[in-house]
Amino acid sequence: MADVTEKKFVLCKSTDLKEKGSGQRFLVKINNEVRPAFVLRFMGKPRAYLNECAHQTMELDLQKGLFFDRSGQYIICATHGALYSPDKGLCVSGRCDGRSLTPLPVVEAEKNICFVAEDGLEFISLANDLDT
Ligand code: FES
Repeated sequence: MADVTEKKFVLCKSTDLKEKGSGQRFLVKINNEVRPAFVLRFMGKPRAYLNECAHQTMELDLQKGLFFDRSGQYIICATHGALYSPDKGLCVSGRCDGRSLTPLPVVEAEKNICFVAEDGLEFISLANDLDT
């Protein structure tokens, strides 16, 4: 269960989020609608997005928590192969070329990766444990 500190919610330990490794899935509520989300680490920083392809409302990871393509350079839609830049969420190849994933606010603090709640954006729960 996630710890609550002010408006920050612990998603996982910093050490659990490996560079270009598995992501941590979680759920958020945006404008009263529960949506899937994930955080992963790329270029040393945690990056979080809604777990929905930009061209169709479909989760990106067929195997839960596996978001990177084989090169480790892109987030991939496992269903259709669209590629997204992990740092900006921009689609660089595939059916949603030019569109972007929806970014979410996360910070790394006190050896934890935390979701930061804002107006209209709530943390609901973790969606699964990290795949190892
Ligand atoms: S759902 Fe959009 S490329 Fe797969």
